[in-house]
Amino acid sequence: MAKLAKTLKQAIHERRATPSFDGTPIPAEDLEQILEAGLNAPSGYNLQPWRFVVVQSPEQKRKLRAASYNQAKVEEASAVIVACGDADGWRKDMDTMLQQGREGGMPESYAAQARASVTNFMSSMNTEQMHGWLNKHVMLAFTHMMLMAEVLNYDTAPMEGFEQDKVHEVLRLPMSYWVVALLAIGHVNGPDKYFGGRFDLTNTVFGEEFGKPLK
Ligand SMILES: Cc1cc2nc3c(=O)[nH]c(=O)nc-3n(C[C@H](O)[C@H](O)[C@H](O)COP(=O)(O)O)c2cc1C
Repeated sequence: MAKLAKTLKQAIHERRATPSFDGTPIPAEDLEQILEAGLNAPSGYNLQPWRFVVVQSPEQKRKLRAASYNQAKVEEASAVIVACGDADGWRKDMDTMLQQGREGGMPESYAAQARASVTNFMSSMNTEQMHGWLNKHVMLAFTHMMLMAEVLNYDTAPMEGFEQDKVHEVLRLPMSYWVVALLAIGHVNGPDKYFGGRFDLTNTVFGEEFGKPLK
């Protein structure tokens, strides 16, 4: 278990996209804690459309690397979490979601309304809209996991450099799955990446309406 935990503030500021990993295995309890953080993310109607494939075996990492433009860190990382969204998840999961909601205190009137709204909303989307919806949710869970890993003193690398069809083939994913991003986790090998800087609030944040500075 990683002992020297960082604060969230430290994790956010010290995190870098790790250029290379040393390959030391990650204890199962740490991995579980990281995954748990992802599963605790919020989602529209609490539909939780994320699905994660954790790749740790040398053989699967090698194949995944080949499906990821030969990025070495895919193979070097202790674990790679392949973050996917399931376009059909809501069909199977709605009953469970409503049941768990009721157990937590969801009013019956809300449950009935949610069932109708979810069905209407989810079945109205075309493929492109569905991918946008899945990206939104999966990246939120992904960020929870990335920051939890950093808090636990791991190094991480988010990756969008992969080929959808090839990752599907390597992981034998169902057709309804959409691969959103890869999260490599482990310990940095050698120097970490330089800090590339960030735009400040005057470039990126407005107050009350577009173009007005935040006071
Ligand atoms: C969604 C996402 C996808 C990324 N994909 C890749 C990738 O495929 N390969 C890579 O080397 N870096 C990738 N990066 C890392 C970015 O280049 C890096 O986060 C950015 O330059 C800022 O650097 P920092 O994270 O070290 O602050 C990705 C980052 C994000 C958030």
